[in-house]
Amino acid sequence: MSERTLALIKPDAVKRGLVGEILARYERKGLSIVAMDLRTIDPSLADAHYAEHVDKPFYPALREFVTGGPLVALVLEGDQAIDIVRRMNGATDSREAEPGTVRGDLSLSKTQNLVHASDSPESAKRELELWFPSLT
Ligand code: CMP
Repeated sequence: MSERTLALIKPDAVKRGLVGEILARYERKGLSIVAMDLRTIDPSLADAHYAEHVDKPFYPALREFVTGGPLVALVLEGDQAIDIVRRMNGATDSREAEPGTVRGDLSLSKTQNLVHASDSPESAKRELELWFPSLT
């Protein structure tokens, strides 16, 4: 079933010049880019996006990181897109991510892990409304 998911190419990837490499992976897989926006987000969007993490010990560092420079917000569409983009990104902790995944190939960090993708249909709905309200 065709689905839409929110993907973020985070500030570490933008700073490292990896946007093209990461986008090319999604495109080669056959996913369609429905929307794409380079933006620097303010802390209120970070807090809303990461609502389930705001009380965690790692959140201050995560908040500083995601608001610290431009990121690319993307809406990707395709058959089973939610699960596929999660699997293409790899495990959250890049040190444990499998080779062949974005994180497994290109990162060594758990916080600065290059990408984000919605983890379920419920999160995709919530995140798409938050990041691209005009699309929904
Ligand atoms: P993401 O897929 O965007 O979802 C939550 C983010 O929090 C995650 O990627 C990492 O950037 C970060 N994160 C999750 N768990 C930890 C952790 N234990 N320590 C540091 N950062 C984390």
